Amino acid sequence: MKEHYYFDNAATTWPKPEPVYRYMDEFYRGYGVNPGRAGHEMAVEAERMITETRQLLGRFFNFKSDSSRVVFTQNASDSLNIALFGILNNGDHVISTRVEHNSVIRPLNHLERDHGVLVTRVQHDDQGYVDPEDIRKAIRPETRAVVVNHASNVLGSVQDLKAIGQITREAGVSLIADTCQTAGVLPIDMEDWCIDVLAFTGHKGLFGPMGIGGLLVRDGIDIRAARVGGTGVDSITPFQPDDYPHHLEAGTVALPGIAGLNAAQKWFATLGKEQLNGGAEGMGHAELCRSALNHIDAREQAHVRELETTFRDIEGVKVYGPEGDRQRVATLSINIRELPADQIGIMLDADYAVCVRAGLHCAPLVHTDANTVPQNGTVRFSPGYFTDQEDMEQAIEGVQELAEM
Ligand SMILES: Cc1ncc(COP(=O)(O)O)c(C=O)c1O
Repeated sequence: MKEHYYFDNAATTWPKPEPVYRYMDEFYRGYGVNPGRAGHEMAVEAERMITETRQLLGRFFNFKSDSSRVVFTQNASDSLNIALFGILNNGDHVISTRVEHNSVIRPLNHLERDHGVLVTRVQHDDQGYVDPEDIRKAIRPETRAVVVNHASNVLGSVQDLKAIGQITREAGVSLIADTCQTAGVLPIDMEDWCIDVLAFTGHKGLFGPMGIGGLLVRDGIDIRAARVGGTGVDSITPFQPDDYPHHLEAGTVALPGIAGLNAAQKWFATLGKEQLNGGAEGMGHAELCRSALNHIDAREQAHVRELETTFRDIEGVKVYGPEGDRQRVATLSINIRELPADQIGIMLDADYAVCVRAGLHCAPLVHTDANTVPQNGTVRFSPGYFTDQEDMEQAIEGVQELAEM
């Protein structure tokens, strides 16, 4: 019997791989100092680890620009604010979708209301998929950017970013991708998919801690500095330096968080190597991580497909989102009869120790379209890599019994 059966990995992954906890602790104890290339030995070591983490993440996302353009932020919301407010100007047009998280919806609403930016929100189908052709049709001469999440945090639907990227690249429009629900689960290829700006959060599939996120900004993309201040270099210059990462990083970085991401990247590579059973000879970080992601995704798919098929067969349970074999991530929304979603969440927690997320999940437009606002949203199950059969049985039993009540 476990104390908790954790099904809230879409909010944040838990637990983290053991090396992440260990390295964060060790690194912070040993080198928890302000980094700096020109500083003392400890500062140089801190800087080395940060630079290495930028390089690892760059390879992880197949980012072909210099790794100095991998910028650390607080989380994906921070990254998306920096990108959207730093790229869009009065009179610009931006295309997004109705399947977005508030970390895209709200910056765009503010830009629209307060800064004269024009916004088109493309509709998705009833399973949460956006037709890339609808994005093409929405492009106008003044369109500056398209911002879209790779996977919905409510429905789990995965958008065809490669097709969208081809359209935006042909049109000369910047593609900003919110990879919160896919980074660390599905391979993402910035180069092949023509992603210009990638926003990630560290604490979900990337298995880092909370409080660290990032932006990968392709060479040639101009983002206004969101914050200005100390950089530890070029102190005599009166304005924020133009060179990366300092252009978008002001102040002391979240060293423990970056250490966590560093250890997690190496954990992915080790896991990928193990999966290849001795066939990893000569493989680099990107290929090893890809092997790890195939393994992680396969495990998560097995869990989510089992939940989906079981829940669909329970009378009184309504399952939202992807059907059949359409590409999805392990995020599944349900409701039980007319019960308010938050009540189901409370009962699952109190009576079964099953930790789910109930509500609108910061994606209000999805719930408006699915007509789930009156039920206070949906109950979201998000199994993760560390979910086991015991968790699965407990979750299924909980939903079965609540549906029979
Ligand atoms: C699709 C999506 N975008 C953005 C975010 C925001 O991430 P963070 O809270 O780490 O800023 C989330 C988090 O739930 C998300 O699922």
